[in-house]
Amino acid sequence: MSVPTNRDSFGSKFGIIAAAAGSAVGLGNIWKFPYITGQNGGGAFLLIYLFFVLLLGVPVMISEFTIGRRGGRNVFGSFKALAPGSPWYFVGIMGVVAAFVILSFYSAVAGWTLEYIIKAVTVGFSNQSTSELGDAFTNFLANPIRPIVWQLVFMVLTAFIVAGGIKNGIEKYNKFLMPILVLFLIILCIRSVTLPNASKGLAFLFKPDFSKVSIKTILFAMGQAFFSLSLGMGALITYASYFRKSDDLGRTAVNVSLADTFIAILAGTVIFPAVFSFNIEPTAGPSLVFITLPEIFSHIPLGNIFGIIFFVLLAVAALTSTVSVLEVVVAYFAEELKISRKKATVLASVSIFILGIFASLSFGPLDRFTILGKSIFDALDFLASNILLPGGGLLIVIFVGWYLKKSDLYDEISNSGSLKARYFPVYRFIVRFIAPLAIAAIFIYSVFFG
Ligand code: PHE
Repeated sequence: MSVPTNRDSFGSKFGIIAAAAGSAVGLGNIWKFPYITGQNGGGAFLLIYLFFVLLLGVPVMISEFTIGRRGGRNVFGSFKALAPGSPWYFVGIMGVVAAFVILSFYSAVAGWTLEYIIKAVTVGFSNQSTSELGDAFTNFLANPIRPIVWQLVFMVLTAFIVAGGIKNGIEKYNKFLMPILVLFLIILCIRSVTLPNASKGLAFLFKPDFSKVSIKTILFAMGQAFFSLSLGMGALITYASYFRKSDDLGRTAVNVSLADTFIAILAGTVIFPAVFSFNIEPTAGPSLVFITLPEIFSHIPLGNIFGIIFFVLLAVAALTSTVSVLEVVVAYFAEELKISRKKATVLASVSIFILGIFASLSFGPLDRFTILGKSIFDALDFLASNILLPGGGLLIVIFVGWYLKKSDLYDEISNSGSLKARYFPVYRFIVRFIAPLAIAAIFIYSVFFG
């Protein structure tokens, strides 16, 4: 098996962590995690979520890194290279499909963040009443043009970075953007936990109330772990195909998972204390950060500045994630259709944008159109987070646990024996038995009894 030698690669350890954490840390952490936690009982959800990050997240991430670096190609090509003459490449195709689905609804929300940055900079939130802020969001979403224009702008930004390649595009921007993200989050966290009654919000996040836990909660916690860690669709397989032979896959997976989880919890400590301090319901759903937070910004001193910081933070988090999703499709188009990276970027972005228009319109002109009782947007999110990603994750662990030879797996994880990788037996036991059974059980149970 020969790995193409003229491929781009990452240039530094920090670049790899920044890019992989950049992929993981996104709207999933700052927009989705707080509202899903809010709707699923707070602390109890957090505990179940942490359990899935450790039990499934880290092992699946190591497995994706292994497939990517050993395969040395895009997600489809990597499976083909590692399992020639077998249908395993189907998992790669599933990954490319998942990338389309995710980016189409994700770029819609990412576009909203740009609208809110402009709003925060120009008019601010301070002179508006609560109902005005709510109406403003609903009217914005109902507008048939505006959200789509912002979605397009966001796709162009994403495409610009991806077109630059790995070292001079993806790595360069992640190294610059990720430290800004952490700094902004810390500023907001300090502001939020020093608001009056902030402790009520912290109690909601950290005190488990198991009465709200159902099998659905468990499915959502697993889906959220996959989504938040960017697992199950090949984003990290694709990134790992640009890792160097000396990079420690296990350590990188642990660091990225810790960073992602830490940032989700930090986002929770920004949102919940603020929400409880102003006696707002934490269960608002997707509108939580676009209505509730502006409401809070309108009441606190220097609220507009905090508003700008928050929405820039959200846009940056989204951008480093959309880049990793687009890269899955671009690497696939470039390598399998043998076209240039620039052409592949244009082709991928335009086709994803067209699908994305439907996701955007599902809040406005297409809001009556439903699939199995869900709006187009919710259906795409559910399909990706709760079916394609866990399904992809299931196949990935089966591939690594049962198809790859044990000696090859060890060779890759230990960098041909130069690392000790003492965790190897535990890791392999999890990917062979625990992870497949856990994912399959939750799946089957939630389909038949959920
Ligand atoms: N992990 C990203 C987030 O939390 C979303 C994502 C999912 C990115 C799948 C890549 C692949 O926002």
